[in-house]
Amino acid sequence: MSILYNTLRVGAEKPFTVIHISDTHLTYADMRDGERKVKLAEEERSQSFFHAEEVLQKASALSKELGVPILHTGDLIDFVSLANLERVKGFTDEYDCFFAAGNHEFSLYVGEAWEDADYRNQSLAKVQAAFKNDIRMSSRIINGVNFVALDDGYYLFEDAQTEFVKNEAKKGLPMVLMVHNPIHEPKLYEATMFRREEYGLHPVKNPCAYLTGTPDELRQCYEPMRFRQQQPDEATYRAIEYFRTEPLIKAVLTGHLHVNYEGELVPGVPQIITSTEDIRVIRVE
Ligand SMILES: [Fe+2]
Repeated sequence: MSILYNTLRVGAEKPFTVIHISDTHLTYADMRDGERKVKLAEEERSQSFFHAEEVLQKASALSKELGVPILHTGDLIDFVSLANLERVKGFTDEYDCFFAAGNHEFSLYVGEAWEDADYRNQSLAKVQAAFKNDIRMSSRIINGVNFVALDDGYYLFEDAQTEFVKNEAKKGLPMVLMVHNPIHEPKLYEATMFRREEYGLHPVKNPCAYLTGTPDELRQCYEPMRFRQQQPDEATYRAIEYFRTEPLIKAVLTGHLHVNYEGELVPGVPQIITSTEDIRVIRVE
C-alpha cells in the first residue's frame, strides 16, 4: 500500500486537499445472506481483496487527520450483503465520503448474471441506503470546484446523466468528473491492450480494455461477451462527446482497472486512476 500525491490545477477559489480511493472490494458476508454468499466471500473473493479493510481504515484515518473528504469511485463492496452494507454505513456515518457507484455495488454473486439496469435495480435501493449521496449521479462543491459523480459501471452513460452534468455546468464552476469505469482514451486503450505489464496489469490471453466508450472497431478483437458488455450506446457516445468538449470539465477521477495511471481524457484534462491498494492524496488548486 502506498500513498500517492498529485496536484490538480483546475481553478479552485482556495487550494484544498481530497483523498481519492477506489475499488476497495469489501468481502464481508454471514449466514443472514445464506451459505452461497458466505462461500463466495470466504472461498473465492476475499483472497483477492484481503487488504480491503486495511486500505479503508488507512484512508479513513488520513481523512480524519487531514480533515478532508474521501472521494471514492466505486466498488467499495465486492458484492451485496448485509455485512458489507453495514460496514459501508458505519464508514459513511463516521467519515466524509462522496461516492460514485461501480459495477460491483450491485453484484449479487459476482458474474452470475448479465448486468444491466434491471439487474442493478434488484439491489439499488438497498445499496443506496448505505451512502450519503445519490450514488448514480450527484455533485458536491468544494472551494468553488464542482465534483460530479456518475455511475458508468455498466460501460454506459444515460441521457439523464448528461443532462445532469449540463445543468451543473450552468453553475459556471470548474468540474471534476468522478466515474468508476475510465473513459476511453487512446493511450489507456493501448496500455490495457498491448502494454499491460508495463502498466502493472496482469498479462492475459485475450485482453480487452474495460473502458466506457471504446468504439466498435477497437473492440473487434474482444471475446464476444466482452464486445457486447463494453458496447457504447448512442446516449453513451453523446455523453462522452459532451464531456470531451465541455471546457468546464477539468479532470476525471476513476478506478475499475485496479492500477495507478495518469492519462488525459483530452489534451489538458487529466484522467487519473487509483488502484485498489493505494491511496491518492490530491491537492486541488
Ligand atoms: Fe473493481
